Amino acid sequence: MGTAQWGLSRWERRARPTRRKRDVTIVPMDKLTTARLQLRSWSDEDADFLFDMYRRWEVQRFIGLEPRVMAERTEAVASIERRRALDHPVHGFWAIERLTDHVLVGNLLLKPIPVSGGQALLPADDVEIGWHLHPDRWGHGYATEAGAAVLAHAFSAGLSRVIAVTAPENVASQAVCRRLGMRYLGETRAYYDTTCKLFEAEMES
Ligand SMILES: CC(C)(COP(=O)(O)OP(=O)(O)OC[C@H]1O[C@@H](n2cnc3c(N)ncnc32)[C@H](O)[C@@H]1OP(=O)(O)O)[C@@H](O)C(=O)NCCC(=O)NCCS
Repeated sequence: MGTAQWGLSRWERRARPTRRKRDVTIVPMDKLTTARLQLRSWSDEDADFLFDMYRRWEVQRFIGLEPRVMAERTEAVASIERRRALDHPVHGFWAIERLTDHVLVGNLLLKPIPVSGGQALLPADDVEIGWHLHPDRWGHGYATEAGAAVLAHAFSAGLSRVIAVTAPENVASQAVCRRLGMRYLGETRAYYDTTCKLFEAEMES
């Protein structure tokens, strides 16, 4: 995994692959800091930003089986509540914030991926990483920088493998996977009851 180029400050040092598969070390969900970004918990004050991001078709068009934009700010408030409810030491939904001016950039997630075949509500063994950025913040490398920090966090916590799935047409997200050094494994229908392009990152041994 090529993550070192992103200047991950303390997370880069903590990402040394010292744990084997199933030997998971529980570390508390924490703020992650990179050269330009801070990843932190979502708060109620972020609802305007979240709504402004997910009300846009260019953000939502590749997300979910039947993509739809947010119509009401109350949906953003409820979404923040659900994100905060994922109280897990390793998995999380992080708000990405720029360090210099605290401007919000987007969302970074690490969570069990829903498997296809009517088990969508059961957690799969596989853990996925994902990114949603506000279009005003595209084109700066923020998704890749934040993704590298969360991969480092995942491997530091003892996960041996993290996957990402994208809609076949979502070339921007596939480019993030490739910039992160994730390996392309082909198309699959194993997750989300739909055809996705599948990428994986493995902890270096
Ligand atoms: C997927 C998504 C996060 C990608 O955003 P992005 O801005 O293209 O990705 P990055 O943040 O990694 O930025 C990379 C771009 O920044 C440019 N860049 C500028 N400065 C940079 C820097 N200092 N470092 C790295 N890249 C930089 C890169 O050249 C690249 O641009 P290019 O694609 O034109 O070559 C964004 O399109 C998005 O939020 N889409 C909607 C939600 C979505 O579909 N999510 C994925 C679901 S699977």
